[in-house]
Amino acid sequence: MEIVIRGTGEWATLDTGVAGPRAARQLEDAGLRQGASVHVRDGVIQRVGAADEVPSALPHLPVLDVGAMLVTPGFVDPHTHPVFAATREDEFEQRCRGVSYEEIAKRGGGIRNSARKLRGVAPQQMLDAVLDRADGFLLHGTTTIEAKSGYGLSLDSELASLRAIRDANAAHALDFVPTFLGAHEVPDEFRADREGYIRLLIDSMLPQIAREGLAEACDVFCEAHVFSVDEARRILLAARALGLQLKLHADEIAPIGGAGLAAELHALSADHLVVASERDLEAMRDAGVVAVLLPATSLYLNLPQDAPGRRMLALGLAPALATDFNPGSSPTRNMSFVLSLACIKYGMSAAQALGAATWNAAHAIGRGGKCGAIAPGFVADFAIFNLPNLASLPYHFAENRVHTVIKRGVPVVQAGRLLPAARNGG
Ligand code: NIG
Ligand code: FE
Repeated sequence: MEIVIRGTGEWATLDTGVAGPRAARQLEDAGLRQGASVHVRDGVIQRVGAADEVPSALPHLPVLDVGAMLVTPGFVDPHTHPVFAATREDEFEQRCRGVSYEEIAKRGGGIRNSARKLRGVAPQQMLDAVLDRADGFLLHGTTTIEAKSGYGLSLDSELASLRAIRDANAAHALDFVPTFLGAHEVPDEFRADREGYIRLLIDSMLPQIAREGLAEACDVFCEAHVFSVDEARRILLAARALGLQLKLHADEIAPIGGAGLAAELHALSADHLVVASERDLEAMRDAGVVAVLLPATSLYLNLPQDAPGRRMLALGLAPALATDFNPGSSPTRNMSFVLSLACIKYGMSAAQALGAATWNAAHAIGRGGKCGAIAPGFVADFAIFNLPNLASLPYHFAENRVHTVIKRGVPVVQAGRLLPAARNGG
């Protein structure tokens, strides 16, 4: 399948010649061009040129003209939890009345609440829920997500969650990059035997997941009252021995040193980092660990502080942005909104925020050089916005200006509506 996509508006290609995760200064260059055309063959970008260059070189190919709209790579959302059974609006209401996230978790709510609800859900029902949620990602311009398990917390239910992600990836245009997060919480039946649950993770879940090839990375919720730094290290080293990449939920609520562990283990990313120490942030930078910022989560939980985004940018860390889509702390799939929050809270420019949500986000999930840019050899994923320029993307607040989404060269959203091609296989 071959096609030419062309337009006359502002294109942010992220094709700047800088390899690897980019620091803030490098992200200032979003590879902007005024007007462009792209040759796509079999879902991969072959060539990028001026607006009329590719159509005149390849006059026999069909042309999709996107006019003067803003064109960017499809968003890459590098941190989501899309496999759950039920929303948790009751907990939202409790928090609005002043009960904290930790207090709700201590009372057996939070992640354990979701785990109770997910167990026993039939595989087809789980898959249908993930597919519905995948539609929402595409509608917001996201073409690749990292998708975590972590609401199963038992061998069977974690396997079922990862199989739902695998099957959704096959049945949906959205690309899913699977991460095992069995270490999301200690489930009810192991509250008096933490060690028993850690053994289950290391001795049973991880080997079986690796055998079945169900995950590319392993993540741990490293947090006070959840998994300590030492426990997280054991779990992650076991995962590494099985060939998995490493990620961490680090220093979100209490500063226990998860960011330092991510640096020590050269993880792909450390995420949240709301209360990470300066020393650990420097260590992350030196170890090349991407800092995944989740400003929608700190907003939604109304945390007393947000990640020190400005400081991270000044220190030279490579920032990525994600929704953290999940039923407890961030029920949103709107990456444009996350970009706005990053500009407001971390002082990012539109170019930096976009680069953090595409180029660097791809590096945070082991997809660097494959998605997150409009350049030869990259997957032909585009988000096309009803906007005049990149600066107006974060300016419009909590709106969805996505007009067209192209996944592997095929339109899957047009005029803001999902097309049947969204479901014809990824
Ligand atoms: O990334 N922090 C841990 N996991 C999720 C929240 C999960 C939940 O509350 O269900 C997060 O914020
Ligand atoms: Fe998370």
